[in-house]
Amino acid sequence: MPRIIRIFDTTLRDGEQCPGASMNREEKLAMARQLARLKVDVIEAGFPAASPDDFAGVNDIARQVSGPIIAGLCRAITKDIDRAAEAIAPAARARIHTFIATSPIHMQHKLRMEPEQVLEAAIAAVKHACKFTDDVEFSAEDAVRTDIDFLCRVTEAVIAAGATTVNIPDTVGYAIPEEFGTRISQLMNRVPNVDRAVISVHCHNDLGLAVANSLAAVAAGAGQVECTVNGIGERAGNASLEEVVMALNTRRDLFDATTAVETSEITRSSRLLTSITGMVVQPNKAIVGSNAFAHESGIHQDGLLKHKATYEIMTPESVGLTEHNLVLGKHSGRHAFKSKLEELGYTLSDGELTRAFERFKRLADQKKEVFEEDLDAIVADETQRIPDTFSLETLEAVTRTGKTPHAKVTILVKGQKHSGEADGDGPVDATYRAIAALSGTRSELTAYIVQAISGGTDAQGIVTVKISDDGRTFTGQGADPDIVVASARAYLHALNKADYWHQKRAGMKGP
Ligand code: KIV
Ligand code: ZN
Repeated sequence: MPRIIRIFDTTLRDGEQCPGASMNREEKLAMARQLARLKVDVIEAGFPAASPDDFAGVNDIARQVSGPIIAGLCRAITKDIDRAAEAIAPAARARIHTFIATSPIHMQHKLRMEPEQVLEAAIAAVKHACKFTDDVEFSAEDAVRTDIDFLCRVTEAVIAAGATTVNIPDTVGYAIPEEFGTRISQLMNRVPNVDRAVISVHCHNDLGLAVANSLAAVAAGAGQVECTVNGIGERAGNASLEEVVMALNTRRDLFDATTAVETSEITRSSRLLTSITGMVVQPNKAIVGSNAFAHESGIHQDGLLKHKATYEIMTPESVGLTEHNLVLGKHSGRHAFKSKLEELGYTLSDGELTRAFERFKRLADQKKEVFEEDLDAIVADETQRIPDTFSLETLEAVTRTGKTPHAKVTILVKGQKHSGEADGDGPVDATYRAIAALSGTRSELTAYIVQAISGGTDAQGIVTVKISDDGRTFTGQGADPDIVVASARAYLHALNKADYWHQKRAGMKGP
């Protein structure tokens, strides 16, 4: 039997720390539900002591997502640990993940602590965390630049104090695979009680080696890999979950190890994250890039037709990339719609189902065929819904060669109709100018991305926008077969998120 390597997903914590990837509570919950469908072993849901919003995000997931272990990150400080313990308490299986830096450069310049003080703090943190749960992970931050003798001492001490997982992060993405593998082997061979804990790795991608380093660590005995969907994360990101998982699956012959991940959920997880954050993956990105399974050259196509294995080391189906699956048509009823969603792994509340069904009916009227990807987009939209301050009532955009594009827009602002019109450089620009004036926003549009959800000229367009408001970035998405309407929806979605955030901030400050 191959070893099962645990997959610790940190998309919602380390991933969310990267610029442009911040998510609100509803989005985190939607992503966590998808991670549960993906069957990761652990979801690191956030850093509860960082802010009340972070706390609430972790707590929502601990209450509402079942299957994986739910972890909360905290510094090796009593009040942080208490906060993490409180946030994850409702989870059926909860983990406290506490960390402190162990490299000379971090201890001296960041912590201003002596190694012995760091060792004491690590032991105390683990002992304190063990009062709340028997699943405690300790991370030696910047472990790759830590003196190996000290790293062995810290590892032994935290295991003796009760840590069940010890994580060896390459915090700054400095390691080279062979060197990192050797470091893990040294720990496996030199720490006397290492068999009482799982050795984990957490690699950053500054030199583009995060996945290679993680795999070298697995070969050397690591039992857990920390990674993120699409490889998002601080700076150049973290090890990409899909690459680690598919490398282990595809080269089981070499590693004699695999994971419990449901690989057919990989594509959907990647797309959901892109739709939430607006961070589009490069077309040639391994496993989830749009070209990852596209064979262009004649010789390759010929080979594939003769025998798939000539040029395909894994199938698109194995990562959930299916031919556009026709699922429903305009005559499909609510029952068929609900069953299809259940088959796709979605469970919606009655209200969400009603709204999603109405959206589906409108779409089926506009489009001849509705595909699984269309349903994913509808569900993502409905389940991450926040209160709509602004919504689109009507839109008329006129564009003619030689004439200035013009848009007439009516939006509802807290239920009240407001109409306006504007000229622009194109129909989308005119629409956005009209909406900006009607909503009174002072935000700035910083990104605008259009993609087609499924093939054909009647495909739904999915538009992602980012706006910057009061120093924060908000991502909005809209899907519609009409690109201008999709654009308007995406913009309004981002404005709603910004407004929601302003309202919550005002509420937190009190009157
Ligand atoms: O990169 C890192 O060292 C981390 C730790 C907190 C695990 O993210
Ligand atoms: Zn990290």
